[in-house]
Amino acid sequence: MPSNNPTFLITGTMGCIGAWVLRNLLNDGANIIATDINTTVTRPGLLLNDAQIDSINWERLDVTDATAVHAMFEKHQPTHVVHLAGLQIPFCKADPSMGAMVNVVGTANVFEAARKHEVRGLCYASSVAVLGAIEHYPNRPLTERDLPLPNNLYGVYKTANENAAKVYWQDWQVGSIGLRPYTVYGVCRDQGMTADIAKACLAVAANEPFHIRFDGPITVQHANDVARIFIDSALAEYQGADVFNLRNDVIEVAEFVASLEQLFPESQVTFEKNNPLPFPSDFDDAGIQGVLSTVAHTPLKKAIQSDVDQFAALLKSGKLTTESLRN
Ligand SMILES: NC(=O)c1ccc[n+]([C@@H]2O[C@H](COP(=O)([O-])OP(=O)(O)OC[C@H]3O[C@@H](n4cnc5c(N)ncnc54)[C@H](O)[C@@H]3O)[C@@H](O)[C@H]2O)c1
Repeated sequence: MPSNNPTFLITGTMGCIGAWVLRNLLNDGANIIATDINTTVTRPGLLLNDAQIDSINWERLDVTDATAVHAMFEKHQPTHVVHLAGLQIPFCKADPSMGAMVNVVGTANVFEAARKHEVRGLCYASSVAVLGAIEHYPNRPLTERDLPLPNNLYGVYKTANENAAKVYWQDWQVGSIGLRPYTVYGVCRDQGMTADIAKACLAVAANEPFHIRFDGPITVQHANDVARIFIDSALAEYQGADVFNLRNDVIEVAEFVASLEQLFPESQVTFEKNNPLPFPSDFDDAGIQGVLSTVAHTPLKKAIQSDVDQFAALLKSGKLTTESLRN
């Protein structure tokens, strides 16, 4: 492999977005250091074949352990970092101090290691949850200048990280891009309320009924596109510390269900009426469009078709079950 190939260290690679980041980086021919506290290759195993899995450098890393994070950077000398490790909304609510340890201290540890080891490109996961309740915001696509008013601990922790990133640039010129995904869908998206969009595609592939628990407008982003945007943002070697919204498709849940029915007339997917998610639903992504030459975006119907096909193949091979439909 040529020596100028980037060496990517990824945290949280056993998660949904992490699995898709691995798949994209393998296609790119990057050197990959795949880290996670969990060492069971479940989600990446849905996207990668055995040879690809064997080609990756897997490392167990708990991001809350500063010494271990530094040792990992010392050992592998990454040129680029995608930081995804985190605990989601319900886990932060159930254990606030653990949520703060992983989401805030873990992120500080990654930034500190990036500073000491002079990483060239760093992209980390923030979230639209920094923005909070819909009634605090005007009825237009929200920009990064709209004030974070998080109303759950997860959003508070992500807001802290966005601010810490700015201080890392101000004090030490550690450049970074933070990205705020919303409803990520695709194979590997299997937990949390907004995973219902991905689960609906799994249900169609399995020919089972499924009820999406909300309606109204939502922003949906395919996991493959989100992964690509994380990688491209790290490769941008950004000189500054900005956080960017993601947009891709803004649709009504009813429209999504109708698209499923058009593509798969046997679809048995329904949705809860008059129960919109309590978050803003439309985001201006001019910021990230201004940084990247192309912002990955698979057209919605093409992505749905490909997801249902992929789920069907995984069910047939026995690599996946429909258990997540009942969680
Ligand atoms: N999926 C979405 O819709 C969405 C939306 C907004 C933001 N995000 C953010 O994007 C990131 C990735 O999301 P995802 O859907 O892949 O999440 P995920 O929950 O599927 O994966 C998170 C990963 O972090 C790992 N992790 C947990 N604690 C750790 C620790 N102490 N050390 C190292 N690893 C640890 C977990 O084992 C898991 O593999 C997260 O930071 C999340 O908050 C996701």
